[in-house]
Amino acid sequence: MNERADFKGKTALVTGAASGMGKETALLLGSEGCTVLIADVNADRLHETSKRLDEMGVINKEYHVDLARADKVERMADSIIEEFGGLDILVNAAGVTMMGDLVDVPLEEWRRVMGVNFWGTLHTIHFLLPSMVAQKRGSIVNVVSGAGLFGLFSTGPYTASKFAVMGLSETIYDEVREHNIRVTAYCPGDTATPIFDKMKIYTWDPDKLRKVINSGFKLTSPEVQAQRIIKAIERGRALETADLFTVACYNLKRFCPPLFRLLSRLGRAAFNRYVK
Ligand SMILES: NC(=O)c1ccc[n+]([C@@H]2O[C@H](COP(=O)([O-])OP(=O)(O)OC[C@H]3O[C@@H](n4cnc5c(N)ncnc54)[C@H](O)[C@@H]3O)[C@@H](O)[C@H]2O)c1
Repeated sequence: MNERADFKGKTALVTGAASGMGKETALLLGSEGCTVLIADVNADRLHETSKRLDEMGVINKEYHVDLARADKVERMADSIIEEFGGLDILVNAAGVTMMGDLVDVPLEEWRRVMGVNFWGTLHTIHFLLPSMVAQKRGSIVNVVSGAGLFGLFSTGPYTASKFAVMGLSETIYDEVREHNIRVTAYCPGDTATPIFDKMKIYTWDPDKLRKVINSGFKLTSPEVQAQRIIKAIERGRALETADLFTVACYNLKRFCPPLFRLLSRLGRAAFNRYVK
């Protein structure tokens, strides 16, 4: 899609639409004239998003689905293709996070985080991309993270899952471009959403960590991130990132790796002192 895309009459699927960035993106796409399909594992909150879309007069449909399950996503994709004929826009915003050192994190947690963040993203693309290829148009935005661009301590499963989504997004960019489809890896920085309230915490003192997160993180609102996701759909670039901390860390890592490592070590030392 080009700059100033016309969203009217387009069909969009937004995952993670029960909360945070996914919810705000679904509402914004609805207000731009899309038919909005919304998917999430949280049925009650997903229904609230659907009710908001109803009030706005937006055609919408809810899919209560665990995206980590290939069979469930395949069923959702089949029903989307049958009822709507395919998709114009796919926004993969579902995700979970955690914090903890490798030695403390059980394999189950790796599977949970990879299951939603990586496999969930792959599942929707795997089952819905063929319909986009057939209609020779489409936009995919994978909501990644700064954690898809650089690795910071104590986020192993989360960072690995986001690097995986980054690799997936980058490698399919040119594969799908020849079918007039764009894939964007959108990397938001810390954002005021409920994701941190639900996060699993290992290694660190949960109360102290939550205090740090509530005082220093959550710099951007999900509404602003939704606007950037819409912009990302319009531009169709491979990578989009805007938040200052994310851009600064990414550039430090690329252009001055020793300084990036030093700051990471200092951050870790501060955590050892104040968050244990
Ligand atoms: N909030 C931040 O600071 C931040 C920063 C960078 C990247 N991100 C990424 O942005 C995306 C959106 O996060 P958010 O902050 O809006 O979080 P959020 O918790 O508000 O929303 C995430 C949604 O994903 C859903 N979800 C979780 N597991 C699922 C599953 N198995 N199947 C279907 N749905 C599932 C949750 O129910 C929730 O509604 C995530 O991928 C997250 O990793 C968030």
